[in-house]
Amino acid sequence: MSSEQNLLKPYNLNGLSLLNRVVMAPMTRSRADNPENKPTEGLHDVYYTQRASAGLIITEGSQVSKQAVGYVNTPGIYSKEQVEAWKLVNKKVHNNNGKIFIQLWHVGRMSHPDFHNGELPLSSSAINPEAQSYTPEGFKDTVTPKEMTIEDIERTIQDFKKAAKNSMEADFDGIEIHSSNGYLFHQFFNGTSNKRKDQYGGSIENRARILFETIDAIKEVMPEQKIGLRLNPSLHGIFGMTLDKETIPTFDYIIKKLNDYDLAYLHLSEPFNDVSNIPHAVTEIAKRYRPIYHGTLMINAGFDKESGNKVIRDGQADLVAFGKPYISNPDLVERFAENIPLSDWDTATFYTQGKEGYIDYEAKARKQEA
Ligand SMILES: Cc1cc2nc3c(=O)[nH]c(=O)nc-3n(C[C@H](O)[C@H](O)[C@H](O)COP(=O)(O)O)c2cc1C
Repeated sequence: MSSEQNLLKPYNLNGLSLLNRVVMAPMTRSRADNPENKPTEGLHDVYYTQRASAGLIITEGSQVSKQAVGYVNTPGIYSKEQVEAWKLVNKKVHNNNGKIFIQLWHVGRMSHPDFHNGELPLSSSAINPEAQSYTPEGFKDTVTPKEMTIEDIERTIQDFKKAAKNSMEADFDGIEIHSSNGYLFHQFFNGTSNKRKDQYGGSIENRARILFETIDAIKEVMPEQKIGLRLNPSLHGIFGMTLDKETIPTFDYIIKKLNDYDLAYLHLSEPFNDVSNIPHAVTEIAKRYRPIYHGTLMINAGFDKESGNKVIRDGQADLVAFGKPYISNPDLVERFAENIPLSDWDTATFYTQGKEGYIDYEAKARKQEA
């Protein structure tokens, strides 16, 4: 019986009532192809509203400043125009009983000089990830970034604070700090990308410092109960990230320290690839971190209906975030409830422009009662 599925049970997200535990994971879709990099009316609002039966939507990564950008046609949340455009998205999602957080993003060294009038992107240290950036002219090799000065760090923290304030003005239900997947915060956490000698490098505490200073700054402009945060402790071989003997103690430290806060949730990803033979990798993230983190734990990567229900039943997570299944199944919750097979996604339209592969996936299930 569908009512017995753990995924379909309601959840109290630190004061915010979610109709179910199915979360739409943050996904960049490159449809903000306008000069202001704002959500596109007729696209973003339709896309997210189609998916409003999710217990919670987390938007695509949205840059907190011009400096923070690293991919073409991604939306921002730093200008008045962007705030107004997001407001329209949120109004429609809320009218359809949806709940929506925005993912706040700074890509750090994954950006490219083409986005910054030839200036270098910023990172914890001047170390090239030896990866590829998706620039306006297509994929290009990444460059060696500029090591951030203390002023750069302080300005970036203020950019996150301002973006969080803007998010509240745009009527989001909360924010998710993107401290995952090899982007700026992750570059600070990892000893292979952070060789700093000041208070932001060296010890584990120092490498994690920028994250906690950012949370503390954001708390000044919104309730911490509405702040979520994403981590991917076992990311390896993607965006220049590699694991070392400090990796597990670093994430253990960060996750333990998050217990000092009363956050909306901690969003963790299981490994994106097979790390069973990689030294210093945690292969079962939820299993390791569920006993360590005392707040709401959201888990992601590779889940389906069965494994999603199971991870909640086993007590290893409270919420499950689905990425790719949400691209091609706008009515994912109803399909789970009615046991309707899922439609396949088309990778060719993940990052293209326009409606195709974005808002033209069919809802096959009957509408669930709100
Ligand atoms: C097209 C696409 C775009 C993505 N963009 C983001 C993003 O902006 N921010 C983020 O944290 N993760 C991003 N991800 C990662 C997803 O949130 C998720 O972790 C990943 O797809 C694994 O979950 P899944 O197996 O349910 O798809 C993206 C994934 C895909 C497929």
